[in-house]
Amino acid sequence: MQGEPTTSAEGSLGAPARKQLHALRLGRRDSIGSAYQVLTFEAAEPLVARAGQFTMVRGAAWGDAPLLARPMSLLTAGDRPSILVKVVGEGTRRLAQAASGETFHLLAPLGKPWSPCPADRRPVLVAGGVGVAPLIFLARELAATGAGSPRPLALYGARTHADLPLDRDLAEHAELRIATEDGSRGAAGRVTVLLEAALDELVQAGEAPRIYTCGPDRMMAAVAAIAAERGVPCEASLETPMACGYGVCLGCPVSKQGGGYLYACTEGPCVDAATIDWTRGA
Ligand SMILES: Cc1cc2nc3c(=O)[nH]c(=O)nc-3n(C[C@H](O)[C@H](O)[C@H](O)COP(=O)(O)OP(=O)(O)OC[C@H]3O[C@@H](n4cnc5c(N)ncnc54)[C@H](O)[C@@H]3O)c2cc1C
Ligand code: FES
Repeated sequence: MQGEPTTSAEGSLGAPARKQLHALRLGRRDSIGSAYQVLTFEAAEPLVARAGQFTMVRGAAWGDAPLLARPMSLLTAGDRPSILVKVVGEGTRRLAQAASGETFHLLAPLGKPWSPCPADRRPVLVAGGVGVAPLIFLARELAATGAGSPRPLALYGARTHADLPLDRDLAEHAELRIATEDGSRGAAGRVTVLLEAALDELVQAGEAPRIYTCGPDRMMAAVAAIAAERGVPCEASLETPMACGYGVCLGCPVSKQGGGYLYACTEGPCVDAATIDWTRGA
């Protein structure tokens, strides 16, 4: 176990930030189709965070159930921090039904952000489902800090066209390619088909890729396998269930290649995909 967790965001991108409990009013809730919601909070003091970091969020009026805050990637930080929510159980249902003006507690920023992309690498973002949120934050950060660098390539996959929330936001800062398993939008098939084709293209064009991925475990496992086969660096953002979010409950172990565990909340969520034993589930 790793002693007192550090939530500092080191590196050249902005000042280090320490985790804080923010009591924030919900400014607005926007529905995207029937399954997704974007919650935008109002912060008097900007919430400082780097792309890939997350928050533990809980409604002030939730009472005893659900008892624990829920981990959510930050879609934006600053004075209008936001999250993208898909309903899977009680906590996300409460978030998806929240009313403007309601108070939420956000513990943030938490976890390790995405690593910066070296100038000689082309960022390739591979997204599935709500995994798009930290990748949109990353695409925005790359656009802000990488003047003159090649535009990221974003590959976004879903079962069907209704499961591509915030595709336009992603397209604002990246060259977007879409795949749906039922062929209702973009290429027919899984996002990995797009990835293999894109990596071939980049190699032919003499460009060296660096992959960043977030989405369902099975998708990230397949992306990690393709990256390993081709020797392409790949970082994955883990969405392992968490109880505390900052290293005290030991509730988020993830199996490492070669044995042992890492704790997703403090050693992730953004990790080198090659360090994870994907056969045991992240
Ligand atoms: C770092 C991080 C970032 C995340 N970012 C987002 C995000 O941007 N948007 C978003 O909608 N969700 C995100 N998640 C997942 C989200 O935290 C869970 O969906 C949520 O905690 C479920 O709470 P619940 O009360 O609705 O469901 P619960 O009642 O707790 O669970 C309902 C069902 O979902 C399963 N489940 C719960 N949590 C997870 C999980 N993490 N992965 C897979 N299955 C799970 C449970 O096993 C159960 O079957 C993130 C998780 C992590 C760790
Ligand atoms: S969620 Fe508690 S240690 Fe990671």
